[in-house]
Amino acid sequence: MHQVVAVYTNGEKPAHEVARFVRSLGIYSQVVFTEEALASLNARAVIVCDQTGSPRSSLPQIRVDGALAVDGQRVRDFLFDEVGLSASWTMNTFIEEGCERIREQVGNKRVLLGLSGGVDSSVAALLLHKAIGDQLVCVFVDHGLLRQGEAQMVEDLFRQHYKINLVTVDAQARFLDELKDVTDPETKRKIIGRLFVETFYDAGRSQGDIAFLAQGTIYADVIESENPAKAGELAIKSHHNVGGLPADLKWKLIEPLRELFKDEVRQLGRVLGLPSELLGRHPFPGPGLGVRCVGSVTKDRLDTLRQVDAIFIEEVRKAGLYDKVFQAIACLLPVKSVGIRDGQRSHQEVCTIRAVESVDAMHATFYPFDAALLKTISKRILDEVTSVSRVLYDISDKPPATIEWE
Ligand code: XMP
Repeated sequence: MHQVVAVYTNGEKPAHEVARFVRSLGIYSQVVFTEEALASLNARAVIVCDQTGSPRSSLPQIRVDGALAVDGQRVRDFLFDEVGLSASWTMNTFIEEGCERIREQVGNKRVLLGLSGGVDSSVAALLLHKAIGDQLVCVFVDHGLLRQGEAQMVEDLFRQHYKINLVTVDAQARFLDELKDVTDPETKRKIIGRLFVETFYDAGRSQGDIAFLAQGTIYADVIESENPAKAGELAIKSHHNVGGLPADLKWKLIEPLRELFKDEVRQLGRVLGLPSELLGRHPFPGPGLGVRCVGSVTKDRLDTLRQVDAIFIEEVRKAGLYDKVFQAIACLLPVKSVGIRDGQRSHQEVCTIRAVESVDAMHATFYPFDAALLKTISKRILDEVTSVSRVLYDISDKPPATIEWE
């Protein structure tokens, strides 16, 4: 087992950065909020990021009050010279130990994983597949609120290329049916969330003897849920989480990425061979295009938005900006605007395009596209998507605007 360093904090000062820094030195570190958690960690040293006091512990300690740029070298000297630790934690160590742990936990039982095509679930799928091969069953729910070509991409990559057991559930009609005439964003989210969970569990039940449910929980979620200073904020983010298991399902939870930061999940995915295009994808909300069709969600509007989004993202990629921005978003607005096509006046859809720069999605600034790029995007959308008559450019920062429109 690798050496562990504890990063001790009461949660008020962000300790993520310190923990990530230690890991980047090749030493595994974990954030702890209490003396009990520290005692159970079997750590070799403690880095204290807590202004209110030091934990009672006989382990060697160092205090970090300033920025890492200032304290980094002190921490390095402390860990390597004073404590005598060595740089031995790498992604390959994590993969070996992770697979071993998964095999021990799972035995010869089967594991179910919800695959969304996002980074976390994709990396979890590959790691689990490496550990237990065909004992892994992935379920992909196609709720019809996905981007163009998304379902096909997931099937090609995971079923054809990686030979992972993949069950795709075509639930498009069911989602569209229940979303009919619903325009309130939170009601949409609730309906989509509930249907998603129901569809996923139904698919899981139909797979027979499943013993484990795997989730792509990552370390940031774990720290956040353990952090006493963040308790009040969790309610706000509740729409990001899937609720508890139905009573009839006796699946045990397995979370193979629970120790990794987001950038480490990407690094793991890279080592496991996932395409860089998938690993570098922008965040995409669980309710998908459902909350980007502002107003009502219909098949026609979704198809229109898929076309707009595909053109927009393609042009952002072509301009070399995709990896520079945090998120690029296209939406349809709940208004119609007059357009002239083939000499005829008609009321058609209005779309907005938006890109933001951000580190943590809490603050975001709009990305200023060049006028020439805006013109190319607008011209292509208006030429190729005949149901759209107007393209708007969103130049709002967060706060007060949120990143998504709904
Ligand atoms: P906002 O719009 O609140 O978004 O500034 C912050 C980040 O969260 C994403 N987002 C969601 N993700 N379910 C999700 O899984 C949602 O309902 C949801 N709403 C917003 C958003 O894309 C951005 O990255």
